[in-house]
Amino acid sequence: MSTQFQSTQSFAPADVIDFGAGHPGAALLPRTLMQAAAAQRLGEDDASLLQYGLEQGDGYFRHVLAGFLSRRYAVPVSMDGLFVTSGASQALDLICTLYTQPGDVVFVEEPTYFLALRIFADHRLRVRPIATDGSGLGIDALETALAEERPALLYTIPTHQNPAGFTLPLERRQRLVDLSMQHGFLIIADEVYHLLSYGEAPPAPLAAFAERGTVLGLGSFSKVLAPGLRLGWVQAAPQHMERLYTAGLLDSGGGLNPFTSALVRVVVGEGWQDSYLDMLHATYRRRITALHAALEEHLGGLAHYAVPDGGYFFWLRLPEHMDGETLAARAPTFKVGFRPGQRFSGQQGLRNYIRLSFAYYEDADLAEGARRLRALIESVYP
Ligand SMILES: Cc1ncc(COP(=O)(O)O)c(C=O)c1O
Repeated sequence: MSTQFQSTQSFAPADVIDFGAGHPGAALLPRTLMQAAAAQRLGEDDASLLQYGLEQGDGYFRHVLAGFLSRRYAVPVSMDGLFVTSGASQALDLICTLYTQPGDVVFVEEPTYFLALRIFADHRLRVRPIATDGSGLGIDALETALAEERPALLYTIPTHQNPAGFTLPLERRQRLVDLSMQHGFLIIADEVYHLLSYGEAPPAPLAAFAERGTVLGLGSFSKVLAPGLRLGWVQAAPQHMERLYTAGLLDSGGGLNPFTSALVRVVVGEGWQDSYLDMLHATYRRRITALHAALEEHLGGLAHYAVPDGGYFFWLRLPEHMDGETLAARAPTFKVGFRPGQRFSGQQGLRNYIRLSFAYYEDADLAEGARRLRALIESVYP
């Protein structure tokens, strides 16, 4: 059966190596594992997973999820502080619905996750990019912006950022939370890559500051199990929990994804999520080594980048005169794809950057893709 499909997240023809695909390839998806979870759960004499669910999310699921996160984050997570969502995107959309008005300002990192910008546009929010450096959000730049205006939200991807790969150090996390309390804005911490760390453990997630009341942490099974599950969570203080689960969406439709939650509860509860995650770590670590070697061979001296130690992405800075969109327009001829940097910019900048994902392809394809990229660049900028 064909594994190719069309969506904004994935659209490349089969003969193209599309470094733009920021999701796992078919061979990595946990089909047999979900089959076993479904057999076990649907074999039980209990049809509650097919009923409207509790607004905050299935309690058994939140219980095992809290245990899993407490272990993996190495900080305590309470099931009462978790709200089940249909993924980080849906959580972000709901938060915009509940906490913003059209015209409000949202601060984002420059660069930021390009599809979050789409959600902010849907809510008619004004986006203000805040400069980053190799360690993430620039706190001085943030303070300068705060002196001029107060945002409703600040959206950050603090760990293994998409696209730049950086991880915000603990000291900056603390300063960021202090500033949010001082200036009265909410931090939306999109932490979907936090559990994909292949080297040293990152600082505790920003969600660990949730009890301070200004942080809502977003997590997702999209990156650690499968995007098609559409399952994630918000971690937040009780006042936000109540705000989330009393939304009209939940009143009408009940808790989100009770069926999937019930299956994933088995996966987490049986320890399968842990072994699957360990396998992903080993796989992605290997792919980083493969792509790094290929980039050194084909783009050495041309592209500048930090080798990622988590997440999905290499973020390449090309020479100033090169333009990601121009390269992307010619890329199909060379049967290669990637995301031009400009799409991750809140101000039409970052033209000489491109983002490569190593999540979709095996080592040999990654190496071949790097070779094609070189040929493309040489052809456009001889
Ligand atoms: C930073 C970031 N947030 C959210 C998402 C989407 O998450 P979900 O599938 O849980 O909606 C992605 C996936 O590309 C991402 O990179």
